[in-house]
Amino acid sequence: MKVTVIVPTFNEEPNVAELVRRVGAAVEGIDAELLFVDDSTDGTPATIEAVAREARLPVRMIHRTDGVGGLSGAVVEGFRASDADWCLVMDGDLQHPPELIPDLLEQGAVTGADVVVASRYVGGGAADGLSGWVRHAVSRGSIAVARAMFPVRLRDCTDPMTGFFAVRRDAVDVAALRPRGFKILLEVLTRNKVRVAELPFVFGERFAGDSKANVRQGLSYLHQLASLRFGRMSRFAIIGAFGAVLNLAIMAGLMATGEGYVEAAIVSAVVTITINFLLQERFVFHDLRDHGGAWRRFAESFGFNATEAAIRLPFLVWIVEATPVPPVLAQAVTIAVAFVLRFVFHSRVVYRRGRALVPPEADVPLEGEATSPRVSSDGDAQVQ
Ligand code: GDD
Ligand code: MN
Repeated sequence: MKVTVIVPTFNEEPNVAELVRRVGAAVEGIDAELLFVDDSTDGTPATIEAVAREARLPVRMIHRTDGVGGLSGAVVEGFRASDADWCLVMDGDLQHPPELIPDLLEQGAVTGADVVVASRYVGGGAADGLSGWVRHAVSRGSIAVARAMFPVRLRDCTDPMTGFFAVRRDAVDVAALRPRGFKILLEVLTRNKVRVAELPFVFGERFAGDSKANVRQGLSYLHQLASLRFGRMSRFAIIGAFGAVLNLAIMAGLMATGEGYVEAAIVSAVVTITINFLLQERFVFHDLRDHGGAWRRFAESFGFNATEAAIRLPFLVWIVEATPVPPVLAQAVTIAVAFVLRFVFHSRVVYRRGRALVPPEADVPLEGEATSPRVSSDGDAQVQ
């Protein structure tokens, strides 16, 4: 069994020698090569060439001048240039411990998985190396949203954002990948039908240099998610918007017949939440309904929406009173936050996959395929 260790690098000069040393030591006895896919503008390529001559394993480098697709594009370039059975991807700054490489490959061999993910969020893993609570929160939040949007494809992956994973090369359709930004694993998992295994790892501190992650990467990630899975979330949004209009119409109608505004608001909320639920069952989550639990799903959905409606107003008052944010902007923010929370809650709780009649040992199905009587028109693999 042969493995290509693919390392994307952008200005990682001070990390190269240490990385090559530790990878070389870790893969002792394994048929491995190290492949740098480099987009650097500093002395990194020269350093790689120098270090390669002394290395304990074969070291190759592809130096790109166009940098197409950034980090993800570099990894895909690495897949293309490999003829090994496994490609193992890791960062060049030693936040991913090379000592885990043999364990990841072993896990793939033992479980028969196509992709082995080194996860920060499975028992024993940790994200210590993320700088500050903002990046921790962003990391957790983006994983929750991604898993809500891809409940099937990401069912077995607690860390679709990790940059440390191994793939069986022939299990991935490299030509189907549309690399951009940082989230290459997300691309691999959502566009291929693969079996996933995981191992915990501790995301450490950088050995040297600075992170290249920035707000632009965050935006690019949102765009990636939206284009990978436009279907479900947009239908959810359309039904939500329809519900909001219906709510106002009913309220206005009741008040026209002489009803007080409080009663009118309550009645219209109850009616809208109920109708929204029925529409969601039919149009948004039809492939994720388990059988016979409609009342329970209704109770959860109703409970969430009623609670959300009840706390949204005090929350708005709090933002306006406690911060300099103008009221209309504050309302826009609360509506946006409520929408995301509502979507995550419905995907992750009300329609969570574990409740469906899927035997756990079943082959990984495509979203809306095989395990549901009706085949959804927008499988997870939907592309732009
Ligand atoms: N070739 C190439 N081109 N490599 C790049 C580019 C690029 O445009 N941008 C970044 N890299 C390389 C870096 O040199 C490093 O080896 C690796 O990709 C990760 O970049 P960092 O700048 O260290 O990113 P990070 O530590 O903030 O993010 C890492 O952790 C995230 C999890 O929170 C990455 O592994 C992400 O993929 C991961 O999501
Ligand atoms: Mn890093």
